[in-house]
Amino acid sequence: MVNEQKNIRQTIKSITNLPSHPIVLDRITKLLANPRTSAEEIGKAITTDQALASKALKLVNSAFYGFPGRISTLSHAIVILGFSTIKNIVLTASIFDNFRGKGKAPDGFNLEQLWYHSIACGAAGQAIAKAIGSPEREECFIAGLIHDIGKIILCNYLPEDFEAVINYTRQNDILFYESEKKLFDTSHDETGGYLAECWNLPKNLQNAIRYHHLPALSHDGSKISAIIHAADIFVRALDCGNGGDNKIPVMSEQVWKTLDLENKSLDDIFDGIKEEIDKAAVFFQLT
Ligand SMILES: [Fe+2]
Ligand SMILES: [Fe+2]
Repeated sequence: MVNEQKNIRQTIKSITNLPSHPIVLDRITKLLANPRTSAEEIGKAITTDQALASKALKLVNSAFYGFPGRISTLSHAIVILGFSTIKNIVLTASIFDNFRGKGKAPDGFNLEQLWYHSIACGAAGQAIAKAIGSPEREECFIAGLIHDIGKIILCNYLPEDFEAVINYTRQNDILFYESEKKLFDTSHDETGGYLAECWNLPKNLQNAIRYHHLPALSHDGSKISAIIHAADIFVRALDCGNGGDNKIPVMSEQVWKTLDLENKSLDDIFDGIKEEIDKAAVFFQLT
C-alpha cells in the first residue's frame, strides 16, 4: 500500500535537457505565415537539419502518403503533398529523432512495444477520424503517435520512477495510469501535455495528449481528444504493442456519444484501423 505520492511534477519541469522545440519546425511555421513563401524555401529550411530531412524524405516516399519511392526532393514533396502535410511530416520526424531509441527500459519491459502501441494509436486515430468524417485526420495521427510521450519522458529521464510504475502495475494488475496516480503527483498525460506546450504544438494536440485519459476535460471544440481516447482503447483491444500494462480502460460514455459510435459499425472501424496500421509500416522502421 502506498501512503504518499512522490512529487515528480516539479522534477520533470526542471529537466533542462528535455528535447527542445525543433528549430526547423519554428522556421517552417514562420515561413508559412508568409503567403509568398515558395516550396523551395521550405525545402531548404528542412534540409538545414540533415537527419530530419532524410527521415522526412523516407516518410514522404512511403506507402503511407501514397507516392512510394517517387519523390526525390522535399520541395517536390511540398508541391505534391501541400504545406500542412509537410509540416506534420517534419513534426513526426522530430519526435522519432528526439525520442526513439534513446532510453533504456527496465528488465522485462520492451520500449519498442510502447512505440508500436503509439504508432498503432496514431493509425487508429486516423482511421476513426476517417470513419466519423472528421477533417482532422493528420492531427489525429500525430496526436496518437505522441499521446503516451510522457511515458517515454519518464523512462528516459526518471528511469527508476518508470520502473517503479511498471512494477506496481504488474503487482496490482492495474493500468499504468492508475499506478502513476497512486505513486506520483503527476502522470504521463500531464507530462506529455507539458512537452506539447513547450513545443508550441497547436492547442487541440496539446489537449488530446493531456486529456486522453479524461477526455471530458477537453473543451476546445475539437474531437481529437475523444478520438485518441477511443484509439488508445481500440489498439489495446487489437493487442497492438504494449503501453506498460495489460488492461483495457473503460471507454468514456461521452466519447461514445461524441463520436456517435452507437450508430457506427465497430467491425468496419476495426477493419479501417487494421488497414491504417498496415500502411503505417514505415514508422516501425524509422529510427
Ligand atoms: Fe496514456
Ligand atoms: Fe496509450
